[in-house]
Amino acid sequence: MARMLQEGYIGVFDSGVGGISVLKRLAKLLPHERFVFYGDSANAPYGDKPTEWVMNRSRLITERMLDTGAKAIVIACNTATSVAAETLRGEHPSVPIVGIEPALKPATESAYHERILVMATETTIRLDKFHRLARTYGSRSDIITVACKGLADLIETGKLEGREMRDLLERYLGEYRGDVDGVVLGCTHYPFVARQIRAIVGDIPLYDGGPGTARQVKRLLLAGQITAPTSQKGGIEFRSSNPDPAQIELYRQFYRLPLWD
Ligand code: DGL
Repeated sequence: MARMLQEGYIGVFDSGVGGISVLKRLAKLLPHERFVFYGDSANAPYGDKPTEWVMNRSRLITERMLDTGAKAIVIACNTATSVAAETLRGEHPSVPIVGIEPALKPATESAYHERILVMATETTIRLDKFHRLARTYGSRSDIITVACKGLADLIETGKLEGREMRDLLERYLGEYRGDVDGVVLGCTHYPFVARQIRAIVGDIPLYDGGPGTARQVKRLLLAGQITAPTSQKGGIEFRSSNPDPAQIELYRQFYRLPLWD
């Protein structure tokens, strides 16, 4: 059984391309693992959907992955993590299910932490999980939240450069130029426009939950003794709810993009 689990895959999902920013961290840290990335691009974005809908979708994707040989699940989406992680862990207590949350801890513990801006979806900012996080780490900082409606959608189209992106970021971030000490990228889509975000807010630290999530996956695989054998060749398979083959090609293009750090 343990052997079978070692050879199982790690299922990683998001509403779309955003989860690829987490997948890149995972593949670097765990080079012998096999990953299946599922982007729910036919249904993106999740950030504006009712929580019950996001819960049901996350459950369906998780169950499909577990039925087809996943040994661990990574919810590479802050929104779906806020909505579904606790419930899914309750439903599958023997499976490592790792989510992602806005990286408030490193941001508020950094040397310059007076004013921290958190960019995320409306759902992530509204739900309890974020309020608990802000209570835990927020006592040293003013935490400003900005729900960036439409930003994940635009990233999802692959149009990362150009006027539309600049205008949207300016609309959300322009007023904070020179006025915040750091920015938390609280949606997994946003690391793909880190450079464009810095062009507006200035050259300040950005915080991304992806590296912490990847480290947590590694810890849980080691603790459960289900890490892939070093003889195994790692790999990545991309899948999508959008049947257009161009979608998978877009995932590959995102995977090739360098991350901001
Ligand atoms: N990438 C997702 C997140 O981290 C959600 C984007 C969306 O679908 O709204 O929150």
